[in-house]
Amino acid sequence: MVTASAPGQIFLFGEHAVVYGQMALAAAIDRYTKADVEIRSDNKFRVDSKEVGELRGEVQKLEGTWSIQQKTGDVKKLSYVTKAAELTFNYIGRGKGLNLQVESDFPIGSGLGSSSAVSVAIVAAISETLGEGLKKEEISKLAFDAEMAVQGVASKTGVTVATYGDFVKVRGERVDHMRNLPRPSVIVGHTGVYASTSELIEMVKELKESHQEIFESALGIIGEITKIGAAALRQRDFRKMGALMNANQMLLELLGASSPELNRLISAAREAGALGAKLTGAGGGGSMIALRPEDPQKIARAIEGKKGQAIVTKIGVGGLRVK
Ligand code: MEV
Repeated sequence: MVTASAPGQIFLFGEHAVVYGQMALAAAIDRYTKADVEIRSDNKFRVDSKEVGELRGEVQKLEGTWSIQQKTGDVKKLSYVTKAAELTFNYIGRGKGLNLQVESDFPIGSGLGSSSAVSVAIVAAISETLGEGLKKEEISKLAFDAEMAVQGVASKTGVTVATYGDFVKVRGERVDHMRNLPRPSVIVGHTGVYASTSELIEMVKELKESHQEIFESALGIIGEITKIGAAALRQRDFRKMGALMNANQMLLELLGASSPELNRLISAAREAGALGAKLTGAGGGGSMIALRPEDPQKIARAIEGKKGQAIVTKIGVGGLRVK
């Protein structure tokens, strides 16, 4: 059996704006999605996940293309898994019946990059199981293709962080790995509300099209905030970083990406002394992050007091592991 695990992620700065070519800074969190894969002697494809559900199907080659047919169970919820598997089979030119077990130690669909983490872990575990250990570059590319196939639009941020870990600065096609940055603990607050990434991206796109000048400026300012924020992190200027997170949140609210639940958790974190707080990922629900390196537990309690699920996590941790 092969096990692959890939980390979740937060956006310190720049979500949504990154879809329009602005710079974003994201970091791996110390929470992982794990895929265990073993080969079967038949062509059945079985996925079991305590958190997401289960799926049954058959691996078939039709007109030269490998695919998973006759899918039953939680087909939609597990579409990243089946898409990542199909792309891997076709890339290596071989498909096989498999048993897959998927587990995550952070909430799925929570805005913490679970779809990227699961896609990366599945591609890595299946290719390794079939004796074709792929390079990280190839894994990241296949996982990105899976995300695009399922959700239509995505930046490279999610799969890059899930594959390489650490901090990643993304601007369009350009991806910079930022090593040796300070790694403060961050408090993540999950609202418990599921929100669709593709629907939020669509909403921002519509706003941008109907109010071109305002939204282009807002996206440009977010890009500037990311640049200054990355420099503040490098200089360990957490106070400045916090102020920039707050400014980024204001602009995300203008884009319509926040929600009453997110705003509640963000206010609670700030009132409890966070240096800064903002939503992370697509928003509309999902999760927020707050920064207060010297006493993160105090912020976690404030978030829990408002019915959020709090996680205190290190950031900038390691990426994909396969064994
Ligand atoms: C979603 O996790 C973050 C977005 O910026 C989309 C993306 O970067 O793929 C909204």
